[in-house]
Amino acid sequence: MKRKTVAWILLGALASVGGAWGAHAALTFNNTVTGEVLNLDDALEEGRDTEAVKTFLETGINPYNENPACLPKGEEIFLTACSGCHGHLGEGKLGPGLNDDYWTYPKNETDKGLFETIYGGAQGQMGPQYSALTLDEMLLVMAWTRHLYKDDPKKAKWLNEEQRKVFKPYSADRKKPTDIAATGECSPMPN
Ligand code: HEC
Repeated sequence: MKRKTVAWILLGALASVGGAWGAHAALTFNNTVTGEVLNLDDALEEGRDTEAVKTFLETGINPYNENPACLPKGEEIFLTACSGCHGHLGEGKLGPGLNDDYWTYPKNETDKGLFETIYGGAQGQMGPQYSALTLDEMLLVMAWTRHLYKDDPKKAKWLNEEQRKVFKPYSADRKKPTDIAATGECSPMPN
């Protein structure tokens, strides 16, 4: 076989691998400010193929929400990647509050919208996080951000009906899931 032909075959194989991964994304994700389609191929290699990520890319629903085994991991990421600008409890600092029912971008009340804002960024200091956090870490930090919510559970559109019934608005003096020994593995919850 000619060298050139081999090169083309290799290129084709590479393209189909990329395509296969991209095929997970049944949904289209858009930049929060410009509406431009986000390229999920920019995501870090690690953490692309967890069960939670696969589910999320197909449904737009975060299977880590209110999962006690996952929340401590989400909190850890929040405290390193977000709290500097948004406050320890998401109460707002240089960036807006993330723990109430007001959203600059109303789509952030859905998990799909929240993901788009984190992955692709918004304005000013809210830079895209795709090169800082893996897709799986984004879902974890999203779950913690949701857990910090302190307003009316009825407006918590990201929760399913069952979750909404039992959700208690966050209060700092309540036992944090970090204190409740996180037993079990962090894996997606059926939704
Ligand atoms: C360097 C500072 C900085 C960091 C770090 C940062 N943000 Fe932001 N964030 C901002 C600013 C400033 C805005 C306002 C941008 C705008 O209005 O377009 C913002 C906006 C947002 C919004 C939109 C809120 C709304 O009301 O619609 C969300 C959601 C958000 N950030 C989540 C996060 C999460 C989650 C992290 C951690 C992974 C994070 N941010 C890290 C500064 C930051």
